[in-house]
Amino acid sequence: MIVELVTAPLKTIHTKTIHNRQVISLSYVRPVAIVGVGQSRFGRVPDMTLNELAWQAVKQALKDAGITQKDVQMVSFANVGGWSAEPLPAISVNEYSGLTGVGTYRIEAACASGSAALTTAYNIIASGSADVALVVGVERMNESLTPTVVELIGRAGNYFWEFSQFGLTFPGYYALYATAYMNEYGAREEDLAAVSVKNHYYGSFNPYAAFQKRITVEDVMRSRYVAWPLKLYDCSPVTDGAAAVVLASAEVAKKLTDTPIWIRGIGYASDTSNLSKRPSFLNLEAARRAAQEAYRKAGIDPSKPHKQLDVAEVHDCFTIAEVIAYEDLGFARPGTGYMLAREGETYKGGLIPVNLDGGLKAKGHPIAATGVSMAGEIAKQLRQQNPKDRQADIIHGVGLAHNIGGTGHYAYVTVYSLEKGG
Ligand code: COA
Repeated sequence: MIVELVTAPLKTIHTKTIHNRQVISLSYVRPVAIVGVGQSRFGRVPDMTLNELAWQAVKQALKDAGITQKDVQMVSFANVGGWSAEPLPAISVNEYSGLTGVGTYRIEAACASGSAALTTAYNIIASGSADVALVVGVERMNESLTPTVVELIGRAGNYFWEFSQFGLTFPGYYALYATAYMNEYGAREEDLAAVSVKNHYYGSFNPYAAFQKRITVEDVMRSRYVAWPLKLYDCSPVTDGAAAVVLASAEVAKKLTDTPIWIRGIGYASDTSNLSKRPSFLNLEAARRAAQEAYRKAGIDPSKPHKQLDVAEVHDCFTIAEVIAYEDLGFARPGTGYMLAREGETYKGGLIPVNLDGGLKAKGHPIAATGVSMAGEIAKQLRQQNPKDRQADIIHGVGLAHNIGGTGHYAYVTVYSLEKGG
């Protein structure tokens, strides 16, 4: 018999047989909470360097947690870059933020980089390796011109086939999903527009959002086509911005705050980058798998998750992505997600409020900052710290963030709660 790891207190015991020998592995998982959140203004922010943008978020998160730089034991840093000049942003941001010497690394999972950095920091604390970690996501996308950014993101689809042979860019990739979905289920362009109208409505109450103006379905329908059926107002914008959260072990969290926001379950999955290998354009398989795993870990009934959730952040890089997310997350049956948008069921007071910060569409989508910003938003929602117009009613004390990288290349779904759980 081989004992792989023994560390107390024990959480789970797994036994398996390898080469006729029974192996017992003992997992050591400590509860982890968000104890501080911060973010910069999102949008076109030419007056701030990458370091200054990150510092805006970091200083707020440290202050919110009631700690200083000397308390941080690890910085989990997310940045995709390519559009900005700084080649080693983790080190440069650490130095600017007074964190020189603290262990760090840079993580990339495309538009889900922020959630990947959060997951890694979670694991560092859950394993007992550290008690306090800072998660930072930052991007300065407007350092390059939009056509360059569109090309760089396009290369991140499937470079050797779909990008180089067919010139597909991200609006084009998601347009393929939109046309397949509309053709199969009878959704209309106006249904996609309803997602944008909702997210712009909530963005109008968020001073950090890139777009703070309300729009109508007619505005969306009149906006220029980018890749049919997606129009300008179906797309998230090229965005500069940063977000940060402080994670802590239960021992430290209880000393810092009365309202720690516990990470109850993180699901993650990936898929082929090659759309021609995907069996269906009607859902993102990685997102569906990540959701199932997060629900299992958090004890959420996957058949009706919205009955246990107060609020959700979902990855609306394009309006069709939010509609598909409703189905991948189990808020709607396959083929009916667009009805939630059409009937306003994802506003406050509906089936489940989604993207009350404006989402990627109106708040903006600074690629690696997005997942971290989603975590911060759910924490503020559960703490009931948002202005009334965009504050969900907190009944169950549970929220969810769904963060996708690429066209479902990477998927992370995270369940947060006010209760620590068992
Ligand atoms: N929604 C609403 N307005 C937008 C916008 C958007 N997504 N993108 C740009 N605008 C506005 C700008 O504010 C600007 O308005 P102004 O003239 O009043 O100042 C105007 O449109 C032109 O801006 P510009 O940056 O020149 O737009 P563009 O045509 O070069 O880019 C897109 C528009 C849609 C191509 C670009 O925003 C894009 O590629 N978005 C998707 C980014 C992406 O793929 N992210 C990853 C997703 S997984």
